Amino acid sequence: MNIAVLGAQWGDEGKGKIVDLLAPSFSIVARYQGGHNAGHTVYTRGRKFILRLIPSGILHPGISCVVGNGVVVDPQALFAEVDELARLGVAVDGRLAVSDKAHLILPYHRELDVLSEARRGERKIGTTSRGIGPAYEDKIGRRGVRVGDLANRSDDGPLANAIRENVESRNRLIGGSGVDWRSVFDQVCGAWDRLKPWVADVSLYLDRARRAGRSVLFEGAQGTLLDIDHGTYPYVTSSNATIGGVCTGLGIGPRAIDGVLGVAKAYTTRVGEGPLPTELADEMGKRLRDGGQEYGAVTGRPRRCGWYDAVAVRYAARLNGLDAIALTKLDVLDGLERVSICTAYRSAEQTLTEFPADLAQLAACEPAYESVPGWSRPTRGARQFGDLPREAQRYIERLEEVSGVPIAIISTGSDRDETIIRPESVLARWLPLAIENGRGKS
Ligand code: GDP
Ligand code: IMO
Ligand code: MG
Repeated sequence: MNIAVLGAQWGDEGKGKIVDLLAPSFSIVARYQGGHNAGHTVYTRGRKFILRLIPSGILHPGISCVVGNGVVVDPQALFAEVDELARLGVAVDGRLAVSDKAHLILPYHRELDVLSEARRGERKIGTTSRGIGPAYEDKIGRRGVRVGDLANRSDDGPLANAIRENVESRNRLIGGSGVDWRSVFDQVCGAWDRLKPWVADVSLYLDRARRAGRSVLFEGAQGTLLDIDHGTYPYVTSSNATIGGVCTGLGIGPRAIDGVLGVAKAYTTRVGEGPLPTELADEMGKRLRDGGQEYGAVTGRPRRCGWYDAVAVRYAARLNGLDAIALTKLDVLDGLERVSICTAYRSAEQTLTEFPADLAQLAACEPAYESVPGWSRPTRGARQFGDLPREAQRYIERLEEVSGVPIAIISTGSDRDETIIRPESVLARWLPLAIENGRGKS
């Protein structure tokens, strides 16, 4: 079985924890899009790891990790992450493959990201300032530089020409004293020696691995509502975080994906600008932020918080063909007297039950809430559905009804062990070993 694990909301759903939890049932974990704008947190052995570019399977010895062509790679960020893992006792060499077709984030992409945000002023996206958007712009504009291009570093080769042309166009755009293309060229070439051992034809690698019976977990970054095509455009990231990204971002066919697991928080968060229909600008919003420690793993920015938005999750279910949901951070709702669920959006004229493309239409709507009883007995650390307070069980069952997707995993804390895997769920078919072992521990 090869399954995809991806975000069903606006990112930071807890994908890192779920991927780390399920990884021992797979032999490869592969990232297909995004870059080091992602921050996937994993707690294990009492330590905290934040994975940015390297797949969240890396903490399990013996699992291979793949960075696909759909990912944009900042070599310095990759090296820093590998070094950080080494300091924490995790060896990466021999277990990492980076696609030769992955596009590079070059030093001036970061600068362009910051400038473009400044130019947008009040309409800024609130990006992570990692150069993600400008790197994808160069890719789509057919002037990008790919990892494999570094193999030919001659002074008058295609790499030198591409960098010279890109830097000159950047200089025309920005003015001022300008960047020296040669220093960029030298810096980029300097990354090759360290990158080279990891560089691979990822499509071929995955095909051979699958033929040899090895299973793959596809790890999404960001989330469905941040997808460049289907998210709250233009307040989105620049890649396809949804399921189609798996095929294009790794060079595999759709039949290689046997199941799709969406990760959703028991409430909703968003970092950066753009619509968040259920946002709570009151004490409850603060309560969720404090209780859930909702501060960005990458930028440290406070995340905006609100109630669970079933319209958004239903949309994610449709776009990705979700088979099941992993519901995270249930424990953050512990102690609330009542909990609300948004089931539709309502304006003076109409009720919307499907997520609209038009942001003005969305802005004119208010969420329609259903209020359900909360629970006082903590769910934190629960490992069996039956151990949850009855009200928490009812909340989950109601989320399944309004989202239209069964909830297969319930996360009740940030640690691997603080998890309920429902034995009657689709996971029993996908990952019998994970079920037998209790919760997929290595
Ligand atoms: P990702 O980007 O989707 O991997 O999510 P992040 O790592 O950015 O943010 C999720 C945060 O929630 C991390 O700090 C996790 O450690 C934490 N987390 C994940 N699952 C749970 C849970 O069930 N309960 C609590 N309290 N925290 C969780
Ligand atoms: P993970 O994988 C949450 C948001 C940014 C901004 C928008 C565009 O950890 O869930 P970008 O730098 O990508 O051009 O920023 O997307 N964003 C994320 N929000 N989680 C993420 O990743 C994100 N990656 C980007 O805050 O609103
Ligand atoms: Mg994150």
